[in-house]
Amino acid sequence: MTKFSSFSLFFLIAGACMTPECFNMEIIGGSEVSPHSRPFMASIQYGGNHICGGILIHPQWVLTAAHCRARFAKGKSPKVVLGAHSLSKNEASKQTFDIKKFIPFSRFKPDLELNDIMLVKLHMAAKLDKNVQLIRLRSKDYIRSGTKCQVTGWGTNDPEFYRPSDTLQEVTVTVISRKLCNSQRYYNHKPIITKDMLCAGDARGQKDSCQGDSGGPLVCKGVLFAIVSGGHKCGNAKKPGIYTLLTKKYQDWIKSKLAPSHTN
Ligand code: ARG
Repeated sequence: MTKFSSFSLFFLIAGACMTPECFNMEIIGGSEVSPHSRPFMASIQYGGNHICGGILIHPQWVLTAAHCRARFAKGKSPKVVLGAHSLSKNEASKQTFDIKKFIPFSRFKPDLELNDIMLVKLHMAAKLDKNVQLIRLRSKDYIRSGTKCQVTGWGTNDPEFYRPSDTLQEVTVTVISRKLCNSQRYYNHKPIITKDMLCAGDARGQKDSCQGDSGGPLVCKGVLFAIVSGGHKCGNAKKPGIYTLLTKKYQDWIKSKLAPSHTN
């Protein structure tokens, strides 16, 4: 190719990318992470299809969203895949597990989107290596609005169609105050954003999590803060993503379920 034509090709591509479609290619507006750089990421699947994200918090336990359970089709056994980057490729790093049990939070209320958190016990402990690692649960639950956080997942990049992304994607979203998120211009208390939830989005609505990202992590300043839960459609500035905030209530619940007396 001549110098001139590669130069004009560059402008052609750059020009095409000024359209919103071009920014909506990933998670919503995100980009592919470098393979295995988020070794705590789990893909919850049935019949080989990705359903929800999850977070490895203990060699035998994955944290996810409680509403993910409703998606399991009868007759197909759910599995958890760890160590993945591409969902379709045969990666040597992958470890696949059957599920021993689901423990949704006892007061999960799907209609109100309350307490959307669940523990998943793997049939055996994962082998921790450089591609499969735990995320540490830390006891912080206060987060200022305006904080930038990363949400990661294999969720769809095409909100019209439910089709997961093949590779793991991530996008930076901004925490929105609960007051603003409950206000008329935002969710208007439908649903009520409680103290156990968090809203995060993007002023232009170009960055968001979406279908299939549920159950995955929202990490702020390197700390796991919340779990992808809901949101009205995807990529709408006034309808930001809704996350389950890992408050003390949930952290204590997790600790009690992971305590040795419960591990059978
Ligand atoms: N409930 C969706 C899921 O199951 C996640 C939706 C996130 N929506 C959003 N606008 N951030 O995958």
